[in-house]
Amino acid sequence: MLDDPGALAAVDPHGARAALAGFPAQCRAAAAIEPPLLPSMKRPRVVVIAGMGGSASAGDLVAACSAERVEIPMFVHRGYGLPSVAWDEALVLAVSYSGNSAEIISAADTARARRLPFVAVTAGGALASLTEQRGLPCVRVPQGLMPRMALGYLFFPLARILRALDVDVVSGEEIQEALAVVEQLGAELAPERPLEVNEAKRLAVAIGSRWPAVYGGPVTGAVAYRWKTDFEENAKVFGLAGALPEMNHNTIEAWRTPLARDLHLVLLRDEREEPEIARRFTLLRDLAGPAAGGVSECRARGRSTLARLLSLTCLGQWASLYLAALRGVDPWSVPTLDEVKRRLREG
Ligand code: PA5
Repeated sequence: MLDDPGALAAVDPHGARAALAGFPAQCRAAAAIEPPLLPSMKRPRVVVIAGMGGSASAGDLVAACSAERVEIPMFVHRGYGLPSVAWDEALVLAVSYSGNSAEIISAADTARARRLPFVAVTAGGALASLTEQRGLPCVRVPQGLMPRMALGYLFFPLARILRALDVDVVSGEEIQEALAVVEQLGAELAPERPLEVNEAKRLAVAIGSRWPAVYGGPVTGAVAYRWKTDFEENAKVFGLAGALPEMNHNTIEAWRTPLARDLHLVLLRDEREEPEIARRFTLLRDLAGPAAGGVSECRARGRSTLARLLSLTCLGQWASLYLAALRGVDPWSVPTLDEVKRRLREG
């Protein structure tokens, strides 16, 4: 059914396919967004990126790109308030696509109480209103997407804000490479490309009725978590995620239980991974593979960290959409998540 446009349209009435197909253009547009002027701000001592769910994953991407090149500590804060590291000379970046996540409004209030430099990235909502009222810098991005499908609009402005403060998360050249890789993948993974030559469709079919268990390495581990959340929100299936080498010290033990048959092991490989990590992937495959219901290996594309992480992210987004289609569920709507938010608002 994945090659049947009518069948795909029937399970995707809100157009998640179009949102993903538009991801390369979204990234290109987002990379061109000028950051707001930050006149009184100086280079921070520490950066705290406050976000939840799909918005937080833009922070994870910033942190992953920074890990090997920026000496300033970066924290992705998923929760109310702010961590205690957010004090003197800390910069708070609040990212919420809807602008209505209660946790991020709380983070903004805490930043204000602590008099911390603050910049928001949002498509509107309470966060945009709050920045207007308080005269705070804010990058307004286009509305109309689900937050997890707006990763480009959330990541690139964060990177530009940081660069404006002399924190070089990603170079212009690396951005250009990443945009080219994302464009190439957009063509390769789109619904028009048939199953035999479409890696995302093949992966969804391989996972089938099992649960995906996704593992990355030290760099791609952040994307493994993003895959898990995309499978959960888009396909409405449980997902597991972890990273090597850490999972060798705990989760590996659970792979010998009969439940492993119900899992599909997905390995996010990266040609830049260290030989020690490559060896651990081989071991993981040898030890857990025979117990799993199936195994797939996916390879990052590109040279820079950004290209490699975004390429894997694109693959996971499309695979989760196709898995949703195979399971007959709407990849766009998140009714239970919406209900949690509604009930919390009602008090
Ligand atoms: O992708 C989604 O829909 C969710 O994971 C949201 O990102 C999450 O609920 C937080 O909402 P927002 O990104 O609007 O702050």
